[in-house]
Amino acid sequence: MTSTESIQTNANLLALEPAAQELLFTAARTANTFSAEPVSDEQLKAITELAKWPPTMANTNPLRILFVRSPEGKKRLGPLMNEGNRAKTLSAPAVAILAVDNEFHEKIPELLPYRPELRDAFAGDLENRKRLAKFNGALQAGYFILAVRAAGLAAGPMLGYDAEAIDREFFPDSPWQTILVVNIGKPGVDPWFDRLPRLAHEDFVAYV
Ligand SMILES: Cc1cc2nc3c(=O)[nH]c(=O)nc-3n(C[C@H](O)[C@H](O)[C@H](O)COP(=O)(O)O)c2cc1C
Repeated sequence: MTSTESIQTNANLLALEPAAQELLFTAARTANTFSAEPVSDEQLKAITELAKWPPTMANTNPLRILFVRSPEGKKRLGPLMNEGNRAKTLSAPAVAILAVDNEFHEKIPELLPYRPELRDAFAGDLENRKRLAKFNGALQAGYFILAVRAAGLAAGPMLGYDAEAIDREFFPDSPWQTILVVNIGKPGVDPWFDRLPRLAHEDFVAYV
């Protein structure tokens, strides 16, 4: 295992400058408390506009994002989070409910104009759409977390919530389905858990 005291990237082999590698990957941490410093609509827009460019299958872009920022919105979301996630969700200046649109195929003619007929191929197959939306949405959730970090903010991704209840509360009669909730803001007091190790190179990488 690789401990964080000895994080060593071959920084000079990468095109991304070392400070940016730290901001996005090696020094960035998952925050568990947040300061009161607000996150502006402009910052959230900059994050989403950056996060939308990395790839998805057939350019389907199934991720949808609902930002919860108002006290009223927090009041609706708080009780639906697991107890251990509630206080940090309430303290974060912005919370993103990341969802996927299980009707993503309707936008295929716009997003994949050279193959618009792919919309019809997906039309009768909800199970396949759900599977692909979840996979590609998870990729986009990863891109989103990196974009939050690129804005100089900390992200706190969470799966500990009542997903069906969130869908009922925020996306009733909608094809949107929650896949991840992400707290966003500047870290607050005592924001980090101990840094956990990562696998050693040879334990997760093989070459043939
Ligand atoms: C998909 C996903 C779900 C997570 N769910 C939770 C959660 O419900 N509660 C929580 O406190 N942390 C949650 N985390 C945070 C992870 O535990 C944390 O990112 C991991 O331990 C690495 O921490 P570090 O980024 O500080 O190194 C989640 C992270 C991810 C990516």
